[in-house]
Order: sequence, then structure tokens, then C-alpha cells
Amino acid sequence: MVQNVATEMADLESEDFYLLSGLEQGMRFSEWVAREKLPEFARLTDEEVEYRLDRCERRGLIERKTIQYVGYRLTFEGYDALALRTFAERETIDGVGAPLGVGKESDVYEVSSYKPMALKFHREGYTEFREVNKERKYTADHKHVSWFYTARKAAEREYEALETLYPTVSVPRPIDQNRHAIIMERLDGVELSRSKLESAQVRPVCSLIFEELALAYQNGFVHADMSEYNIFINSEGITIFDWPQAVPADHENADELLKRDVKNTVGYFQRKYPHEIGEVTIDALTDAIKAEEFTGIEAFLDEE
Ligand SMILES: Nc1ncnc2c1ncn2[C@@H]1O[C@H](COP(=O)(O)OP(=O)(O)OP(=O)(O)O)[C@@H](O)[C@H]1O
Ligand SMILES: [Mg+2]
Repeated sequence: MVQNVATEMADLESEDFYLLSGLEQGMRFSEWVAREKLPEFARLTDEEVEYRLDRCERRGLIERKTIQYVGYRLTFEGYDALALRTFAERETIDGVGAPLGVGKESDVYEVSSYKPMALKFHREGYTEFREVNKERKYTADHKHVSWFYTARKAAEREYEALETLYPTVSVPRPIDQNRHAIIMERLDGVELSRSKLESAQVRPVCSLIFEELALAYQNGFVHADMSEYNIFINSEGITIFDWPQAVPADHENADELLKRDVKNTVGYFQRKYPHEIGEVTIDALTDAIKAEEFTGIEAFLDEE
């Protein structure tokens, strides 16, 4: 999907981007931007708008719909194109490469630059948006919360967490952010879920994860979506990624979310390595993380 955009990028012209960013402007006010308003938003003549609409629609960057009026909106691909254009202008990236992962609410690609990096397009709100849209049909579109607002907020939150935590906490190095996209260091290694640890490594790796969660907490964040799918592991250690839903450590739900993170992480190790990780006192472990007293998982294993 985005790879199409990446290949399309080369033959998009400046005026195509005027149209796309004009639509983006218009979508702040309504879901479907009236055709007649486009020359003003895009700062193009009417004929030019017509020509650009055709080019962009054929490339799947925009969609058209006739309601009480003829309206247009950006597709995710169109929004992707705008973000890619900005990164290219800032010389953050040279091009988009192979997919690195497709998550529930994101698409991650390798990007080329002076070194390999990862580009994450947030998709939060999109599925929900389509559902809501189906029901709501043509009513009160001034009340809409657009999917790209939700996706952009998620990207901003994730980027902010990475900027705060890096390099104190082992997270991907943040490089750039625009709209619903972030560029970060490309991680080496595999997801913890796909790794098989030797017995002797299990407790040290488990401890390492809680040390990072403790550091994150002390630096102001609870991850709030911890799982074996959001941890990379290699011979040098572990890296925790996927931070859009992180909450500030002084948030009213922070303690509860931290406890859930601890529980989920412990649960994974207990299921996969029952001989190494048995009963764990979750409350005591959570408290130790908060109090900067965590020094290893052993102290919280209920062993006789
Ligand atoms: N910096 C990175 N370097 C290499 N691969 C990455 C990087 N960030 C993400 N990935 C890959 O992309 C996948 C999806 O990324 P991520 O977990 O951040 O989003 P997500 O899975 O959509 O979020 P959620 O966990 O809410 O579904 C990861 O599982 C991982 O394989
Ligand atoms: Mg994930």
C-alpha cells in the first residue's frame, strides 16, 4: 500500500502536493471538502485543480463522494504522501524500502538514509472512523474527529515519549516526526516473542526489562502496552518500542497501568519459561519499580 505511494512519489509534481495539502487544510473543517472550495485551499486555478484531482484520484491518494455536494478527502495513502514529501524535503529520508512489520494500528517500513531507519505510519482511528462513518452517513460533519487527527496525535505522543526517554531508557532513537509518521532508528534483533532463551538467560533478560520499565517510570512514563511483541532482543540486550499509548508517571491511572505492564511481562515469562519463572509477587515488584528499588527478579520469586 505505502510502497505504492513510495513508487508514486517520484512522479508526483509540486502542484499535486498543493492539492493534497489543500485538501488537508479543508479537512480540518469537514470530512468531505467541497470541490468548489479547493482552488482557494490549494491555491491553484480551477482548471489546475481539475487536472490534479484526476491525477491524485487515479493514484488512490484522494477519494471522491457526492453527498449534497461533490466532496473530496485524502486517503491514508494521500496523507502518507504528504508526510513522505516533508521527510524528503527535510532530507531525513531518501526512499522507502521493505515492510518491517504491520501492527494492529500501524505500518512500519525500512527507509533509506545515511543509515537504515524505520518509518512508522500510525493508523489509529481509521477502522473506528470507517465504522462510525457508515452509521453516521451524511449528518453533522462539523462534529467529526478525523482519523488523521487521531493518528497524528498518536505519532506525536509516541515521538514525545521516545525523545524524553532516549538514551536513558533502551528505546529506539527518535529521528523525525511529521503528521502521523515517525522516523526512528531501525532496531536489530527479533521480537522477544520469537526468541528462545537459554535457561540461564531467562532471569537476566526478565530483570533487564524491569530495569528499563523502572528507568522509564523515573523519567516520567509508563509504557501501558507491554508485551513480548513490543520488545526487541539481540546479543547486546533488549529495546522496548511502540510507545504511543504511554502515560505520564503522574497520571491518575499510571500505577494501575504499570501494574498491568508488570503482570503482562511476568505472565509471558511464566508461560514460556515456567521452570525459571514461577510465582511472582506482582504488587511488591511494581512497588519496587516505582520506588527505584528494583535490583533483580530473584527477590520477587516466591520460591521455597
Ligand atoms: N524501530 C524499529 N525497527 C525495526 N522494526 C520495527 C521498529 N519499530 C517497529 N518495528 C516492527 O514493526 C512492528 C509494528 O510496530 P509497533 O509495535 O511499533 O506498532 P503496532 O504493533 O502497530 O502497535 P500495537 O502493538 O498497538 O499493535 C513491530 O512488531 C516490529 O516488528
Ligand atoms: Mg506493537
